[in-house]
Amino acid sequence: MQIEWKTAPMPEWQADALIFFAFEKPCGYLPALKQFLGSSGKWLADSAALIDFAGKPGEVAVVYAPGGGPTPRIILAGLGPIERFETERLKFASALALRKCGDLGVARPAIPLSALEGFPGANESLAIGPLTLGALLRETLVGAMAGLHQFQELKSNNSAAAKTPESLALLWPEPPESTILEIVALARCEVAGITLARELTISPANRVTPSFLVKTASELAGRFGFKIEIIDLDTARSMGLGAFAAVASGSAEPPFFIILEHAPPGTENDPALVMIGKGITFDSGGISLKPRDKMEEMKQDMAGAAAVMGAFEAIGAAGLPGRVAAIMPCTENMPGGKAYKPGDVFRTYSGRTVEIISTDAEGRLVLCDALAYAAKRFKPSLMVDIATLTGAAIVALGKEVAAILGNREDLVASIQRIGASVGERFWPLPLWDFYFEGLKSEVADMKNTSDRGAGTIHAAMFLKQFVPDQVPWAHLDIAGTAWTDKDTGFSRKGATGFGVRTLFELARNNKCR
Ligand code: BES
Ligand code: MN
Ligand code: ZN
Repeated sequence: MQIEWKTAPMPEWQADALIFFAFEKPCGYLPALKQFLGSSGKWLADSAALIDFAGKPGEVAVVYAPGGGPTPRIILAGLGPIERFETERLKFASALALRKCGDLGVARPAIPLSALEGFPGANESLAIGPLTLGALLRETLVGAMAGLHQFQELKSNNSAAAKTPESLALLWPEPPESTILEIVALARCEVAGITLARELTISPANRVTPSFLVKTASELAGRFGFKIEIIDLDTARSMGLGAFAAVASGSAEPPFFIILEHAPPGTENDPALVMIGKGITFDSGGISLKPRDKMEEMKQDMAGAAAVMGAFEAIGAAGLPGRVAAIMPCTENMPGGKAYKPGDVFRTYSGRTVEIISTDAEGRLVLCDALAYAAKRFKPSLMVDIATLTGAAIVALGKEVAAILGNREDLVASIQRIGASVGERFWPLPLWDFYFEGLKSEVADMKNTSDRGAGTIHAAMFLKQFVPDQVPWAHLDIAGTAWTDKDTGFSRKGATGFGVRTLFELARNNKCR
């Protein structure tokens, strides 16, 4: 769907459908809708449809203008009570309004930019920040575009696919200012990233193999000029990436340790922001085999790597100024004849040895080598890993909130804030030193699981052992949020693309070097 500009005053608006947002009654209408009701939209003011529309979250009403005219349909999308407004509400309302257009076969809907005026706390400034017009426009566009996304590639007959409008016009009485055009571009970058992450994650494991992720990374590198390095199994072994190699040993599919780097001229030697994504393209559990129920969903176990790829798509498209590096350890976790086994001990890249208790705790193994390698190679200003790491994160926080843990409280708080600003919720869990007690091993420096509960914390505590104290580090456990069992309006059933926006936002804040 294209985003277009139409410079026209209200009486000259023309669109297959005109979209307005409204708060829940009795608060009701924003200034643009009020103005419309008082001028070209008098017919709507007299309509019972307006009385019936309550403005509840998720509510979308289509009202038809008598005799058609230049705006034959008005679409009203509810934002819920004004006192509880969050930009996320606007994202959902916009997504549902555009989906409604798709369902009706409306080709060219429009949103008046003035429909984003009068929000609580919003002001005239177009600067990006909480509740400015720019921030509201960004949520509107991200919601509109990402809400329409549907993975169609493997359907031989896509007649059942939801339809998508051809273009969405933004109406404004004057030519758009450059700040507004920048926001449109920004939203496009984000949506491209979210889309890539969703498609990689929802794609089956016989398609998205580690080799496929290599192709994806190479394609990104070619398009945006990223440096790329691919480490195969033999090289990984010779480099000492022993934990990564152990996980890969049961699989017939070749594993790859993928490194991408965005270093605009002059930043090559700057400390890098490093993003590390878990890339288990299928997690069978290995010898500690998972139960059969829903095992197919373990194709999502590379959602961390997918979020990093998505963030890099957005970073490249936006041409961000700072140095950002990515490491994606990619392999299947399979129970082949050469598979690693419970009781085995491996030397990790850091030099420390790990006793395997469960081969199903494979994510922390591939990540521990990636963290140690990143710390040594990039002198990171900040290291963030993102992973579908523990089912315990779902037990603790559910499917809508990701766990965040790290070695700096202020860093955790600031990522939490950044996430909230783009509709991605993170909640902290503690990482007190005593949690290491549960990871002590009789035969090695540590074991890979604990039997003392707090699964998400023990996984993070394991990772912490591989992060030098002087490196600021945060761990994002997206086991609950990467996948949705229901259509949320913004995301259809399956992969959500969770994490892309937070990582991209971190990279945008990283411009000061
Ligand atoms: N990939 C899983 C975690 C997961 C669970 C992701 C549900 C998405 C949805 C991870 O590798 C795993 O198997 N974790 C184990 C850890 C346990 C063996 C300590 C788990 O959560 O049960
Ligand atoms: Mn596992
Ligand atoms: Zn896993």
